[in-house]
Amino acid sequence: MSGQKTPNENRILQGDSARVLTTLPDGSVHCIVTSPPYYQQRDYSTQIQIGNEETPEEYVSALKQVFRECWRVLRPDGTLWLNLGDKYQDGNLLGLPWRAELCVLAGSPQNGVVLDPFVGSGTTAVVAQRLGRKYIGIDSNSEYCAITN
Ligand SMILES: C[S@@+](CC[C@H](N)C(=O)[O-])C[C@H]1O[C@@H](n2cnc3c(N)ncnc32)[C@H](O)[C@@H]1O
Repeated sequence: MSGQKTPNENRILQGDSARVLTTLPDGSVHCIVTSPPYYQQRDYSTQIQIGNEETPEEYVSALKQVFRECWRVLRPDGTLWLNLGDKYQDGNLLGLPWRAELCVLAGSPQNGVVLDPFVGSGTTAVVAQRLGRKYIGIDSNSEYCAITN
């Protein structure tokens, strides 16, 4: 699928990230900023959620499938910013992805495309839009997708 046009619309896509990513063209994204689910930390209420695998090996294997596709859709000059340090405290996210602003600024040009394959409530998308970038967000949870849209 190389050579396909860079997407020029903001999009939130619902589904399993590893599968949904296969629908995006090769080399079409400038910057990926994401905070995947932690291992056995939270229930995101979908059958296809990552994070509740029985073993850490299965968890890592699920993440590898996603990041293999991320690698494919990233442009050769693209950047990927992975936050595995996000954490809930007193029922709220500490907000480490809120620091997405610097990653988006450093990793994409004006009108560039920013992808978050675990978009959740949409921090990356909000930051991307505020900074004049296009965004693509993917999440398995339809309620998060509705909020973010
Ligand atoms: C740590 S949260 C992301 C937080 C996000 N940065 C925010 O601003 O809310 C991880 C997200 O991954 C989603 N998720 C879990 N398994 C998934 C899968 N297989 N495919 C797509 N999204 C998934 C969950 O629904 C959750 O919204």
